[in-house]
Amino acid sequence: MSHDADRADLLAQLRQLQADQARIRNTLLERDRRFQHLARSVFRVTESERRRLARDLHDGVGQKLSAAMHRLSQLQANPALTVREHADLDALAALVADCLHDIRNLSRLMRPQILDDLGLVPALQWLFRSFREHHGLDITDDIQELGLALDDDLNTVVFRLIQEALSNVAKHAGASQVVVRLARKTSAIHVLIADNGRGCDIEQALGQGSTSQSTGLSGMQERVHLFGGTIQFHSAPMDGMQIRVSIPLPDAASPVAP
Ligand SMILES: Nc1ncnc2c1ncn2[C@@H]1O[C@H](COP(=O)(O)OP(=O)(O)O)[C@@H](O)[C@H]1O
Ligand SMILES: [Mg+2]
Repeated sequence: MSHDADRADLLAQLRQLQADQARIRNTLLERDRRFQHLARSVFRVTESERRRLARDLHDGVGQKLSAAMHRLSQLQANPALTVREHADLDALAALVADCLHDIRNLSRLMRPQILDDLGLVPALQWLFRSFREHHGLDITDDIQELGLALDDDLNTVVFRLIQEALSNVAKHAGASQVVVRLARKTSAIHVLIADNGRGCDIEQALGQGSTSQSTGLSGMQERVHLFGGTIQFHSAPMDGMQIRVSIPLPDAASPVAP
């Protein structure tokens, strides 16, 4: 075979390889797109299921417990009751009040209604109040109004990130202070959660997640990546934990009317 024929043959093979490579690349991109779509659907379904359960708890069990409280206070007002019966009713009323408090709390943690009704910033203010009250955390918050309405998915993802990070601080850090910052710069949302607690070994902490012993930090990572963002964990023993997140805003994010 001549040199020219060899060259033509090689070129044909090269073109074939390039075409195969392009096809494989397109298939992978398409699969990646479908996977993202599916993963976002799972995320949405989980949240809407949580929303439904939160409402059922609040409106179903919560309302019934409220009615029981009302009925108990009518019984407590009966002048014919003995001291013993009074004491029993008081104990029962305290128990029901406790259950009602727990149910409302659980319902809010599952999906705070305020996130759907008033949006991210008021929902975060509620979250901070709740962590201050229930866990005694000293939270310094610097939450800037974003100047635009985030879509439901982004609202949820940012809320869940901060909720998980604060739960971790309450559970693991032994910190005396936490700073939470939220701001929009150009076309991305930036979040910082930093505590001054005991810190941890990040590799090991993330590893725990991948062996499914825990899913908090790795769950944060997955969600942020799902929305095209970046997340950085920084910590060393006794150096607290800092989590920095940046999530790009979709082009369609709509400005809020002044
Ligand atoms: N703010 C923090 N301070 C100290 N350690 C932390 C902090 N956040 C996470 N960790 C460590 O990382 C581990 C993994 O956290 P996470 O994935 O949220 O799982 P879980 O909270 O269920 O243990 C925790 O068990 C803890 O040891
Ligand atoms: Mg956790």
